[in-house]
Amino acid sequence: MSERTLVLIKPDGVERGLVGEVIGRIERKGLKLVAMDLRQVDQKLAEQHYAEHDGKPFFGSLLEFITSGPVVAAVVEGPRAISAFRQIAGGTDPVDKAAPGSVRGDYALEVQYNLVHGSDSPESAERELKLWFPDLKA
Ligand code: CMP
Repeated sequence: MSERTLVLIKPDGVERGLVGEVIGRIERKGLKLVAMDLRQVDQKLAEQHYAEHDGKPFFGSLLEFITSGPVVAAVVEGPRAISAFRQIAGGTDPVDKAAPGSVRGDYALEVQYNLVHGSDSPESAERELKLWFPDLKA
């Protein structure tokens, strides 16, 4: 059964010219792009997107970072797309958790500057897709 996930290429990924690399990996895996755009995230969207981290010590710098430059936001679809993209991304900590061969394992060093975001569950995907792409049809 096909499902959808929200993928973000964060400001560090755009700044470092890794958009093609990440999108290429998504396409080569066999996942499909349903929607994609380059956008500047405002404070409100950042706070809503990261609401579950409100109160954590890194919340302020997380908001500052995600609003610091353009991001690529994409809706990615395919069988088990949520897990499939998380495998492409690698674990949140690029050194301790992300395997070599993953985007974070290959290109990132710090947990804040971990290049990409992917929804972590069907519930998160539903919430995040509504937030980022409210007009997208099912
Ligand atoms: P992401 O998948 O976008 O979801 C939450 C983000 O918070 C995560 O990727 C990291 O970029 C960031 N994050 C998680 N833990 C820390 C931390 N200890 N310090 C700074 N940023 C963090």
